[in-house]
Amino acid sequence: MSYFTENRGRYLEELKEFLRIPSISTLPEHKGDIRRAAEFVAGKLRQAGMEGVELIEGEGNPLVYGEWLGAKGKPTLLFYGHYDVQPAEPLEEWVSPPFEPAVRGENIYARGAADDKGLTLILIKAVEAVMAVRGSLPVNVKFLIEGEEEVGGEHIERYVASKPPRLTADAAVICDTEMFAPELPTLCIGLRGIVYGELVVKGAKQDLHSGVYGGAAPNPLMAVAEILCALKDREGHIRIPGFHDRVRPAAEAEHAAWARLPFDEKKYRDEEMGVIALTGEAEYGLFDRLWARPTLEVHGIRGGFTGEGAKTVIPAQALAKVSARLVADQRPEEAVAQIQAAVAAACPKGVTAEFRYLHGAAPSLVNPDNRFIRAAAQAMTEVFGNETVYVRSGGSIPIVGAFDQSLGIPSVMMGFGLPDDNLHAPNEKLYLPNFYRGIEAVARYLDLAL
Ligand code: BES
Ligand code: MN
Ligand code: MN
Repeated sequence: MSYFTENRGRYLEELKEFLRIPSISTLPEHKGDIRRAAEFVAGKLRQAGMEGVELIEGEGNPLVYGEWLGAKGKPTLLFYGHYDVQPAEPLEEWVSPPFEPAVRGENIYARGAADDKGLTLILIKAVEAVMAVRGSLPVNVKFLIEGEEEVGGEHIERYVASKPPRLTADAAVICDTEMFAPELPTLCIGLRGIVYGELVVKGAKQDLHSGVYGGAAPNPLMAVAEILCALKDREGHIRIPGFHDRVRPAAEAEHAAWARLPFDEKKYRDEEMGVIALTGEAEYGLFDRLWARPTLEVHGIRGGFTGEGAKTVIPAQALAKVSARLVADQRPEEAVAQIQAAVAAACPKGVTAEFRYLHGAAPSLVNPDNRFIRAAAQAMTEVFGNETVYVRSGGSIPIVGAFDQSLGIPSVMMGFGLPDDNLHAPNEKLYLPNFYRGIEAVARYLDLAL
């Protein structure tokens, strides 16, 4: 039996321990859990044989750092992951409680199982395995694990932008993405960026009787709806002047590669998403719409009366949480200014409207013609027994842009999640065979990245 197989039981127990910590970064009441998760990661890095392990304290949640630099003259890999998770709501939808990891079949269910505690642990366990078996590593490694990815990760971005000497590396390695399909090893080479903000609309000085004042009073909730519909039309076209100017179309070769991906659109629509129709810009294919085109979405609207029964009121204020996903070569600051101008132009009479920026991240596109990426494809192909595919993802990992722009290094994004892992949703899970094979693939990668 191999070292990896012998240690599976222990890997699973350690993963469960990690998953029991409710390290939800957006909720201030979980600050203590955030610290516990950071300490947990630091402990695992020490256990793996890393040196100089410490929490880097700053304004935000601690970064966890550790390194092993004993491979003189060999490349250095910078491993990145995040120990923070999304909130677990709606709690009643979970089959088992989100922070009491439960194995059902071949999956482990818990918030953070796939995003990103399970995948972060893959990196640590891979390094631990090679250190345990050989007493050394074939390459130098550094770990930088953060605790605010799910809230925009701006503190780590500032830290990376300051180019600290200890982050010098030849490539970043990230396990925080998905496989395109089960059994299909997948490298992600493009991520969308994001700008997130609140659309705040104000009308009268206080709530008004909708019968007495209706007909003369402006309605901020209607104004929110009007503004949103002005920003994106019924055909899915974003109507923000200048917004698409920098959008770089996907290359023909990339389109050809996407067309070869094994994909069942009906299954995707009916089973994975459970919707009656796919929407979006009709002149673009699905993968373009998901990976190479920007979006504008509304996440929640607050205002007026939402309780049981009826109340006839015109609210004084309304608010919408809105974000736009960006693609290469759009720029977050520019997008914010464009959205703000479009909101001002679309604001109806009698109300004020303002887009308040909350956080943002640049999009990223990695050139796959790179030896660190080729080595990763090779390692994954060997362990999974299928040819590795290259895809993009519509999600965002803010730090990837900074690794490129500030450190000048490519990101190797080895995905071990699955499309039905329910990221950010109830019943998040990780397919355990991927957890174990992920550890083997990253360990193999250490030899091939030489
Ligand atoms: N790991 C995800 C991003 C992701 C998901 C990439 C699936 C590829 C495939 C990450 O944790 C995430 O959720 N990011 C946020 C970033 C935002 C809060 C700035 C996102 O994309 O919404
Ligand atoms: Mn993640
Ligand atoms: Mn996430």
